[in-house]
Amino acid sequence: MSAARVPVDLHDRTAFVTGGTGGMGRVITTELARAGAHVVTTSRDHDRGQMLQRQVAREIGADRVEVLTGDLTSRADLHRLAAEFTARHDRLHLLVNNAGAHYRERLLTADGVEAHLAVNHLAGFTLTYLLERHLLAAGNARVVNVVSATMSDARPVPLFGRPQPVPLDLSRVTDVRDLNPADGYVPFAAYARAKLLATICGYEFAERWHDVGITVNAVHPGIVSTGIIDDLVPAILAPFRSLIHQRLLTPEQGAEAALRLATAPDLAGITGRYYVRDRETRSPDVSYDAATRAAAWKLSLIWANAVV
Ligand SMILES: NC(=O)c1ccc[n+]([C@@H]2O[C@H](COP(=O)([O-])OP(=O)(O)OC[C@H]3O[C@@H](n4cnc5c(N)ncnc54)[C@H](OP(=O)(O)O)[C@@H]3O)[C@@H](O)[C@H]2O)c1
Repeated sequence: MSAARVPVDLHDRTAFVTGGTGGMGRVITTELARAGAHVVTTSRDHDRGQMLQRQVAREIGADRVEVLTGDLTSRADLHRLAAEFTARHDRLHLLVNNAGAHYRERLLTADGVEAHLAVNHLAGFTLTYLLERHLLAAGNARVVNVVSATMSDARPVPLFGRPQPVPLDLSRVTDVRDLNPADGYVPFAAYARAKLLATICGYEFAERWHDVGITVNAVHPGIVSTGIIDDLVPAILAPFRSLIHQRLLTPEQGAEAALRLATAPDLAGITGRYYVRDRETRSPDVSYDAATRAAAWKLSLIWANAVV
């Protein structure tokens, strides 16, 4: 039996999971479908999406998973994906912003945004924002943002010394394209900063939706043996890659944390929290700073809202 199995009945529920064809996203998608939900997921690659659908059809049943094709670093694709979802569904009970990536070098998206920021923060922010009406229609929807504890300690090899939260100063930033600039760029910190922004804006969504029944929480899943690890492991540790993978959580174990936040009955109504696996934890101090939160929200909203 999968370690990640969901203990509640999700028939008549609709879920949207980003990045369902790989790593933990595949497990989250499959287990939500196994529990009865109709799951919509995304993939950049049509064929990988079809493979997932065939796998779920074999294991669970046909037509349980729908795959939308798109690149989550593209604002036009995000708007199209949201439009495709809303055209086919009238409610959204569970949104799991799972997709994420780490890049070894500084890349810009077609929109001119640094790529870590685009996929790890702006994608989830934009979908959450665009799907608000459908989340509201569900009555008591849950949003789960899969973030990373790297925001609390952005040292690539944290063996000695004190944790170093990733720096974030938005006081002079007027455009998301100015975040994670080329000057002083460190990939690991750029990834961590994007996760921090996802966490901060999740707190703001949670507050705004406090009285309407939509909960929003963030979770670090643990260190999990998936594709992203190969991009995250510093080059100096590359010879030990397979040894490292053996010591990590499996994707099934890693997916448990997001599945729990998305479905556990005892977490109903819990919102605006950050968890490391199943333990509620404090995120970096700057994430509780009101001015930073207001600035992160405004920058992200302007970007998400722009007509494309
Ligand atoms: N593994 C860990 O130790 C760890 C730790 C902390 C947080 N996380 C977070 O956990 C989440 C899941 O990651 P994972 O570990 O399962 O990694 P993974 O196996 O690399 O899966 C990442 C997923 O995101 C999708 N994705 C990446 N870039 C995309 C893009 N531009 N457009 C659309 N989809 C895109 C991938 O789709 P493709 O198949 O198209 O590439 C894949 O399905 C991520 O948010 C990651 O940051 C992971």
